[in-house]
Amino acid sequence: MRNFLVTWLAALKDSLCAGQGLFPQGPVNGAEGGTVSFTTNLSPPVKPFITISWSVGGVNIIDYNSSDSIGPGYGDRITLNKTTGSLELRNLTLADSGEYKVAITTATAETINGSTELVVYENITDANITGPPNHLFANVSSTNLTCEAAGNITAIQWMKDGQPLSAGGNILFSEEHRKVSISPVKRHDSGEYVCKLTNPASSATASYRIIVNYGPESMTILGQHIAEVESFTLIYCSVQSVPPATFTWLFNGQQTGVHEAGYIIRSVSYNNSGDYRCDARNDLTGNVVSVGHSLSVKGTMESLIHPEGAAGIAVAVMLVVVAVALGLYFGITNQRANMLGK
Ligand SMILES: *[C@@H]1O[C@H](CO)[C@@H](O)[C@H](O)[C@H]1NC(C)=O
Ligand SMILES: *[C@@H]1O[C@H](CO)[C@@H](O)[C@H](O)[C@H]1NC(C)=O
Ligand SMILES: *[C@@H]1O[C@H](CO)[C@@H](O)[C@H](O)[C@H]1NC(C)=O
Ligand SMILES: *[C@@H]1O[C@H](CO)[C@@H](O)[C@H](O)[C@H]1NC(C)=O
Ligand SMILES: *[C@@H]1O[C@H](CO)[C@@H](O)[C@H](O)[C@H]1NC(C)=O
Ligand SMILES: *[C@@H]1O[C@H](CO)[C@@H](O)[C@H](O)[C@H]1NC(C)=O
Ligand SMILES: *[C@@H]1O[C@H](CO)[C@@H](O)[C@H](O)[C@H]1NC(C)=O
Ligand SMILES: *[C@@H]1O[C@H](CO)[C@@H](O)[C@H](O)[C@H]1NC(C)=O
Ligand SMILES: *[C@@H]1O[C@H](CO)[C@@H](O)[C@H](O)[C@H]1NC(C)=O
Ligand SMILES: *[C@@H]1O[C@H](CO)[C@@H](O)[C@H](O)[C@H]1NC(C)=O
Repeated sequence: MRNFLVTWLAALKDSLCAGQGLFPQGPVNGAEGGTVSFTTNLSPPVKPFITISWSVGGVNIIDYNSSDSIGPGYGDRITLNKTTGSLELRNLTLADSGEYKVAITTATAETINGSTELVVYENITDANITGPPNHLFANVSSTNLTCEAAGNITAIQWMKDGQPLSAGGNILFSEEHRKVSISPVKRHDSGEYVCKLTNPASSATASYRIIVNYGPESMTILGQHIAEVESFTLIYCSVQSVPPATFTWLFNGQQTGVHEAGYIIRSVSYNNSGDYRCDARNDLTGNVVSVGHSLSVKGTMESLIHPEGAAGIAVAVMLVVVAVALGLYFGITNQRANMLGK
């Protein structure tokens, strides 16, 4: 156990002297104008450190023994934690990038050396996507989206409608992901495109909405072919189109003045029987599609849903016929009697 401890302490001392383990692995990333901390993993010692000295590229930043000696240009932008040896550096410039070294002398005259690297990145600003100057048409047009920004960019990711966009099919990335080519554009390529530019210290996004125009397509007419007199009737023209189609309804070849998707007859008359046609037009593609629909108007709803009512009418009609016949008979007989009476 004692041997183990001695070995472990020796290993710890070696690693501290070699500058390993004092700071986490890998560089410290900072943003221009931002702040970083070089945080040692030292616990505050029982007795304060005698000296702490920080330098970058051989240039003194701060030399602390009994008093501080601060290098030029660092006066108002550093804070040294004298119990841990950690250093905070503010208002970073690109020139601050480099290898930072710290040498600490403990109360027991031991030396602890460490080093860590600082990389300062320009913030990413003015991110912008340049898109197509013209309208896009499904299956016909191709387009490029180009993501641009100022600052140090180490990675670019693209999203479409909140989901990562990946290459394949009609999607191709180029120029280290700065550009997305879509060739040809498909209907489902419509949507919100976002490019996210990052570096280890900052990020920025830009977005662009793509509209793929198509249609009119897949047109259908919904509605009954038989309507009852005085009923409410709707014939509906359904079509897929971007931008939305404009409609024109014709009745027996005549303009109706109806330009909605739905042709409504609030109370059907017999003269509403006939041939209807819906024309759907996409003003951007210039395409027009048409579908026809026939409507015939039948007797009242009463007679159709109350057969006994219809029977009653039939009986009444029969009675009238009989009455007329009888009237004729009696009229003729009377006439004859009158004639005979004369
Ligand atoms: C860069 O970003 C950091 C962190 O967001 C910020 O503190 C700093 O002021 C920015 N620098 C500039 C030059 O805008
Ligand atoms: C403290 O540091 C200064 C500047 O490096 C040096 O001149 C001085 O001798 C040091 N004092 C001690 C006690 O180490
Ligand atoms: C120095 O760092 C230690 C540990 O992070 C912290 O507890 C202490 O408050 C710091 N001292 C100063 C003066 O910031
Ligand atoms: C940061 O540094 C720039 C130039 O080095 C200076 O103009 C500015 O005043 C500094 N800002 C702060 C908060 O120290
Ligand atoms: C620790 O760093 C100081 C100054 O950078 C150097 O003089 C000394 O030799 C180093 N000691 C070890 C053990 O590496
Ligand atoms: C993006 O760039 C376009 C053309 O270059 C410009 O019209 C637009 O204003 C820019 N948008 C932003 C947010 O910078
Ligand atoms: C585009 O192509 C798809 C199949 O590849 C087809 O379903 C669609 O109708 C086409 N659209 C146009 C506007 O030609
Ligand atoms: C997209 O960019 C490529 C070059 O990367 C170019 O050949 C192509 O013409 C561009 N397409 C459009 C629609 O601008
Ligand atoms: C950031 O960009 C500047 C100028 O464009 C360049 O000098 C610097 O080396 C870049 N920094 C990194 C970390 O890429
Ligand atoms: C159809 O008949 C109704 C009454 O039944 C009438 O008001 C309307 O003007 C007629 N419409 C046409 C186009 O003849």
